[in-house]
Amino acid sequence: MDSSPRIIVTRRLPEAVEHELVTRFDARLNLDDRQFTAPELSAALREADIVLCTLTDPLSRAVFLGAAPALARLLANFGVGFNHIDLAAARELGIAVTNTPGVLTEDTADHTMLMLLAAARRMSEGERELREGRWTGWRPTHLLGTRVTGKVLGIVGFGRIGQAVSLRASAGFGMKVLYHSRRPATADVERRTGAAAVGSLDELLERADFVTLHCPATPDTRHLIGEAQLRRMQRHAILVNTARGDVVDEQALVSSLRAGLLAAAALDVFEHEPAIHPELLALPNVVLVPHLGSATVESRVAMGRRALANIDAFLSGSTLPDRIA
Ligand code: DGY
Repeated sequence: MDSSPRIIVTRRLPEAVEHELVTRFDARLNLDDRQFTAPELSAALREADIVLCTLTDPLSRAVFLGAAPALARLLANFGVGFNHIDLAAARELGIAVTNTPGVLTEDTADHTMLMLLAAARRMSEGERELREGRWTGWRPTHLLGTRVTGKVLGIVGFGRIGQAVSLRASAGFGMKVLYHSRRPATADVERRTGAAAVGSLDELLERADFVTLHCPATPDTRHLIGEAQLRRMQRHAILVNTARGDVVDEQALVSSLRAGLLAAAALDVFEHEPAIHPELLALPNVVLVPHLGSATVESRVAMGRRALANIDAFLSGSTLPDRIA
């Protein structure tokens, strides 16, 4: 392989990661951090051996074909989710794809608990009231939320992040944790994380006081939580989504919240991000956060290092640690 392969990096990355990229490789950074357009992505795939991409790059078949005949040989995705990449097309065209699992698990799980607590204790409503100068002082009936400790948490998708949330919720908050997953966890994982499997998604939705989503975005999970599922939830229940926006039918969520079918929601991810459904913006009982699940210095540097580990393996011809295509 070429001794100085060209790497194109599609977004700004933490300084330590960019430093390593430019000192070790012929790396082109995106210094103004502007999102690449589809033609710019095709050009990057044509000009580079490796593209270090992120979830803001829709890497469709059309984008790959726009780069042909010369095509990068590795897409090193900075992130664990890969619903923005057409893996089947990448496979057909001989482009290897890697992601960065594991390193953002703990921070995303912490963030999920933060979102759950914020919605339960009406934190955004309180902060808005205070900042807008509407707070008139303490009173016994002011902004009453709902208790988290001891309640039932339903986890949809029980991979690394779902399990880390379960551990926090059961050990830290004494919650009774139920989960639903395509693949049931081992008895050992269930014991360690304090979770019990339920037979169906419907059962989980009916029993949980809080529902949190941790499944990947795939064609099968698109709108997994739609009108019928929201109707199954208890009226006092709260929905948390730190997975991917597509998993929830946002229009159905808006209608269900308006109809009082559930009490509140906390959303870190959105169907058409960065665009936010205008009615979500108007609902007071929704906590809205701009996709910050893994946004700690520690996670983001670790994600960069993991992408670099995949690049190193690729360049040395070794097995890719996190190959997804
Ligand atoms: C991921 O890694 O897919 C996250 O959504 C980014 O934090």
